[in-house]
Amino acid sequence: MTTDIAWEEWGRRDPYFGVITNPKFRRTELTEAARSEFFESGRVHVDYVLQMIRQYISPGFQPTSILDFGCGVGRLVVPFSRTAMQVVGLDVSPSMLEEAKRNCEDFGASNVQLLVSDDLLSTVDGHYDLIHSFIVFQHIAADRGREIFRRLLTRLAAGGVGAVHFAYAKTCYAETHGIAPAAPASAPTGGSVSGMVKAWRASAATRRADADPEMQMNPYNLNELLFILQNAGVHRFHVEFTDHGGELGIFLFFQTPC
Ligand SMILES: C[S@@+](CC[C@H](N)C(=O)[O-])C[C@H]1O[C@@H](n2cnc3c(N)ncnc32)[C@H](O)[C@@H]1O
Repeated sequence: MTTDIAWEEWGRRDPYFGVITNPKFRRTELTEAARSEFFESGRVHVDYVLQMIRQYISPGFQPTSILDFGCGVGRLVVPFSRTAMQVVGLDVSPSMLEEAKRNCEDFGASNVQLLVSDDLLSTVDGHYDLIHSFIVFQHIAADRGREIFRRLLTRLAAGGVGAVHFAYAKTCYAETHGIAPAAPASAPTGGSVSGMVKAWRASAATRRADADPEMQMNPYNLNELLFILQNAGVHRFHVEFTDHGGELGIFLFFQTPC
């Protein structure tokens, strides 16, 4: 998959900037203060997630086991490790996971297991009280990500909680309610998959060797996600909107039946 190759490149070349695209997190710029700020943002995020779950989904929620899908360099598994006995971080990029391993060692997060992910989640054992994923699915093509989401839901324990983020629209397409207008039939790719692959290969061939790897931003169809959730037995959910520089998203919080 092209995005998997790109993410391994991010992991090898510039993992912190790949996670939060702020120039201060570039490998060449990363000071000790910036690294602390990076991990502090993870602590704040985890506090917020637990607060949302306790406020809207399950008062007194205290997970024993947590699965973080797309864990990157461990920004979130480190604070998750302070709240649960068992934390699993999954990522498609071995280089991201190597950096995460170093970070877990640095922070003394000894209860974190880091695993290379595949679409079948074949490396994952058991069921989890909390399955979390933030700013990950947006980087995976929607038809692929939908299936991964469906499989993740089967890994929730009875009464387990999901906190999963998706992009769904872009402010630059305000006239078409956030969705890209349909490509005209004469577009270079012709809208076909083989055309898109050709276009990607052509752009890869002309990209400078030192240019950043590709970072796709893929919106998801919310109807499809809600269908998957309802099929998994979820009765209700809470949503927080996100807006990352015009990339609009939803952070979904929900619980499976006990
Ligand atoms: C923007 S980073 C977010 C990292 C982490 N969730 C955080 O907020 O700190 C996106 C991560 O998703 C991972 N990723 C991308 N595609 C993936 C896939 N198909 N399966 C698992 N992880 C994936 C990337 O390797 C990268 O580490």
